[in-house]
Amino acid sequence: MSDALPKFCFVIHPVSLEDVARYEPGAKGKGEPIIRKILEWMPPWAAVHVTGVRAPDGRETEGWFIGAPLMPEQMLELPREEVYSRILRAIEIGAELGAQVAGLGAFTGVVGDAGVTINERSPIPVTTGNSLTIVAGLQSLFRGAQEMGVDPAGATAVVIGATGSIGSACVRLIAPKVKRVILVARNETRLRKFHEQIASELPCESSYTTDLSAAVRQADLVLTATSSTQNVIHPEDLRPGAVVCELSLPHDVSRRVALERPDVLVTEGGNMLVPGAPRFSRVREPDQEFDLGLPPRTALACMSETMVLALERRFEPFTLGRGINLDRVVEMEEMAARCGFTLGGMRSFDAAITTEKIAATREAAARLRSQAAAGGERVSP
Ligand SMILES: NC(=O)c1ccc[n+]([C@@H]2O[C@H](COP(=O)([O-])OP(=O)(O)OC[C@H]3O[C@@H](n4cnc5c(N)ncnc54)[C@H](OP(=O)(O)O)[C@@H]3O)[C@@H](O)[C@H]2O)c1
Repeated sequence: MSDALPKFCFVIHPVSLEDVARYEPGAKGKGEPIIRKILEWMPPWAAVHVTGVRAPDGRETEGWFIGAPLMPEQMLELPREEVYSRILRAIEIGAELGAQVAGLGAFTGVVGDAGVTINERSPIPVTTGNSLTIVAGLQSLFRGAQEMGVDPAGATAVVIGATGSIGSACVRLIAPKVKRVILVARNETRLRKFHEQIASELPCESSYTTDLSAAVRQADLVLTATSSTQNVIHPEDLRPGAVVCELSLPHDVSRRVALERPDVLVTEGGNMLVPGAPRFSRVREPDQEFDLGLPPRTALACMSETMVLALERRFEPFTLGRGINLDRVVEMEEMAARCGFTLGGMRSFDAAITTEKIAATREAAARLRSQAAAGGERVSP
């Protein structure tokens, strides 16, 4: 084994116009159509050099975030081959810099067959990072439940995006802990077939529906992992005191929830604390930190999975496709813990969730529940 640090690369792309300005401050104030056109023509480039990722036992890795600058809608709308070649060029840049494993960020892991074709064509092994995202999402959902005093054993959980790579694994891992699980997606045939396939293995009541609002209206716990480019969870659908764990990028939960539902706990589920003293330096301005839009030392779980694979020298396509192997999820959880990765602090709508905020949310939920118990059919927050 060589003494050189194991290296990774991770493909990033903007999921909002605010992200574009974070990547390229010069874009601030430019109109959306112009930005989209520029992105269409912009080749991938090495945007961020990541150093200082160090496991508690001293193992270290370095890597690069490579920009494949398309917005989520463009990833879905442009010809598939064009998008694949953009992502593959980004991975090639990483491989030229010495990366031995590549991760796919946000929609680069959603487009097409969730990484399978990209891995086949890539010069280095590829992972979507979804195993660690699933681990982080579950930990985050049940941490939220505990904070809000919701007992999972008596709860109805709704998984939105239930036929997806992340959602389908989450259904199977949430089911043993709750009273009832409702599966939600848009494609009814795929949803029914998936439910038929797994219903007998699920140790709780289960059902499925394409009526997202109706499902959310019944939910104590919501985990959302869709490939929607629009908000799908709105304040009027949520039950008093509901806990929502959001994995989707771009976000599924409307910002109106923050303003109109002080009784609901929304938490971004896919953030991890990176061990060591990680630095995310802009490649073009190495003295400047790249703003990931997250607190210090924090990275997305899919980025973290790629770092874990590098630290463990597991240069292999660890997580690919839409039928994720649950043994791999458990193995990734163990590897990540061994490497010193832990769940990120609670956060929603770009801000940390403080102890005071949780107390106020619990209080608002209790008030609404007692109004409902006192006979008010309609409860307004
Ligand atoms: N935080 C992180 O670290 C992290 C890591 C990886 C991925 N992600 C994000 O997680 C999300 C899911 O990724 P994935 O790989 O699991 O995607 P995926 O395999 O493509 O699955 C997407 C799921 O969403 C459903 N869906 C799409 N639009 C919907 C809508 N409007 N309403 C209800 N369901 C809808 C799809 O089914 P139908 O088409 O039938 O509706 C499918 O079940 C993406 O936003 C991705 O960017 C986050």
